[in-house]
Amino acid sequence: MSNPFIEQLAEIESTGLAALEKTGRDHAALEEWRIAFLGTKGQLKRAMSGMKDVPKDEKRAAGQRMNAVKSALETAFATAQTAGGSDGSTSTGKKSSGPILDVTEPALPVGLGKRHVLTRTMEELAEVFARMGFRAESGPEVEDEWHNFVALNIPDDHPARDPLDNFYLDENNLLRTQTSTVQIRVMEKVKPPLKIVSMGRVYRPDEVDATHSFMFHQIEGLYVDRNVSVIDLKTTLLQFAHAYFGPEADVKLVPSFFPFTEPSAEMYMKMKIKGKWDWVELGGCGMVDPNVFKAVGYDPEEWTGFAFGLGIERIAMRKYGIPDIRWLVENDLRFLERV
Ligand code: FA5
Repeated sequence: MSNPFIEQLAEIESTGLAALEKTGRDHAALEEWRIAFLGTKGQLKRAMSGMKDVPKDEKRAAGQRMNAVKSALETAFATAQTAGGSDGSTSTGKKSSGPILDVTEPALPVGLGKRHVLTRTMEELAEVFARMGFRAESGPEVEDEWHNFVALNIPDDHPARDPLDNFYLDENNLLRTQTSTVQIRVMEKVKPPLKIVSMGRVYRPDEVDATHSFMFHQIEGLYVDRNVSVIDLKTTLLQFAHAYFGPEADVKLVPSFFPFTEPSAEMYMKMKIKGKWDWVELGGCGMVDPNVFKAVGYDPEEWTGFAFGLGIERIAMRKYGIPDIRWLVENDLRFLERV
């Protein structure tokens, strides 16, 4: 079948496609092309007027041909448009800022990430102490005065209870300042003997510097049985030092004071810092004060025990060579990827 109308359509299709190639996919040229071929006064629309001259029995086929040409030109135009301009412009007129998006390109691999160094340290500590028979316990971060102070033998007039040294929430509740609170909570519900560790966040309005934060983590240990002595305390801390920092690590206890232990000591650990051995204070410890046993209903004539509380950030900083405590919470990927 051939008539002038069909021939004209074939002509429009071939010149249209050729002209589209020549636009170079430049935005302005593409728009000119659209108006010339597909616009309301464009070649295709104008050709339609020739339809009236097509013989009746050929009208149907002519109409189909007309639609096919229109659709071919529209598809070619849409393809040229999405491919973007050769000068870096897109058909929306905006300069594209980078290479043209290739949706078929394989995606960049997504890093799996890893656990935070503090989380890892806590898991390691839990495992070391579990091997020594300490069960993991936990307690609330919002505490009452009974568990944070009173039961721990810290009287009303003790400077540690100064509102300026604590984050009080109301008259009787505050953010716990130490994990020693968990000693009380566990002893209140469990009969001796017992051997537990507890890890978690504690809060103090301390001035922030490279080794101090207003929020940090502690690990608390408590062992209650008959005839527990300072030797058991020191042996446990020494075993921990060897297991966690290596066979050359050492422990020394320097007399100190805590209201809830008697006698009390600061625990120093000898470890290698930048290739040099040095003593580092990690926390406090001592033998559980009889008044603490009385507060939880344990008979101090029958039961003895030791307790310790160590700063987890300080342990992690030593273990992984982290010079500033603030790096642990800043979430800088350059740091997190390194440790
Ligand atoms: C206590 O908190 C006692 N509860 C420890 C204890 C438990 C003694 C059981 C006896 C028996 P101290 O306030 O010294 O003690 O804190 C213990 C450790 O927490 C410190 O040695 C240090 O490692 C860490 N620490 C204290 N304050 C901060 C702070 N602002 N930032 C980071 N770590 C801190």
